[in-house]
Amino acid sequence: MSDSEERKKRIYEVTEELQSKGPHNDKGFRVVITGKGGVGKTTLTALLAKLFSKSGYNVLAADEDPQMNLPFALGIPRDQEITPISKNFDYIEEKVGARPGASWGGLLSLNPDVSDVVDRFGVKTDDGINLLVMGSVIQAAAGCLCPENTLLEATMNYICLRENEIILMDTQAGVEHFGRALAKGFKQAVVVTEPTFNSYQVALHAAKLARQLGISYIHLVISKIIDNSKKNKFMEMAGKSLDGFDKIFTLPYYDQVLNTEPDITPLLNEKSSYIDKVNNIAQTLKAYGEKK
Ligand SMILES: Nc1ncnc2c1ncn2[C@@H]1O[C@H](COP(=O)(O)OP(=O)(O)O)[C@@H](O)[C@H]1O
Ligand SMILES: [Mg+2]
Repeated sequence: MSDSEERKKRIYEVTEELQSKGPHNDKGFRVVITGKGGVGKTTLTALLAKLFSKSGYNVLAADEDPQMNLPFALGIPRDQEITPISKNFDYIEEKVGARPGASWGGLLSLNPDVSDVVDRFGVKTDDGINLLVMGSVIQAAAGCLCPENTLLEATMNYICLRENEIILMDTQAGVEHFGRALAKGFKQAVVVTEPTFNSYQVALHAAKLARQLGISYIHLVISKIIDNSKKNKFMEMAGKSLDGFDKIFTLPYYDQVLNTEPDITPLLNEKSSYIDKVNNIAQTLKAYGEKK
């Protein structure tokens, strides 16, 4: 067997081991944030993570985008080295007790909580947000999910959310992340769009896939709205298709976002109608998350 085949085999073995321990009955809830590139997914995910954390939630922010922007949006220093799970297989293998010759699952707990998983595979921000960086490589054209991705999916499914715990998963542009396993157990999707035709086509596609995967509630966030005329034009263009969303939110174009980027932390230090609106999204996600 070649080295890479051997590695592939080992990844699948660890994945199976993780899968055998999950999925669990979450008491908290999971939200996936999706949409076209550049619409504001990462900005929104990071803000929601901070707001949920401030209101007493134990937050797991998961970055599925290979570009790995979420850590910087959350204010992790740019010179801090972050090793994504997908580049960290040997370590994971060791942590799950699956080194060749070792007994299976020695270190895996039956009901792993967020801290359990983050202690092993992730990092914590200074203000207490748990972060998992996946760094997955999805080969969309070939339609192939590489072994690293199955490992990521299994890791997500393996986590058991307690009360007051939430997973917010930021995704890459496009819809490939709606591979079945990764979105399993996600109750809500937030589809972000700019008020443009192209961006909305991606949003509609993502919403459709999310429904097919059994995600119960799908919300739309129309982001970077410059003025009412742009909003009205968009609403007219979207027409009846808007009925397909559970809740619809708008966010203004806000210069301060660009002034502080990539770190969103300063945005929360002062009052603004922009932050009020993000807070409103958080409240709604919470209300839907608590629905049975
Ligand atoms: N409401 C907003 N107003 C102005 N700029 C924004 C807004 N939301 C995001 N941005 C900026 O747009 C760019 C893309 O945002 P980002 O959150 O990285 O998008 P995505 O994750 O969807 O690719 C960033 O430079 C970000 O600072
Ligand atoms: Mg992003």
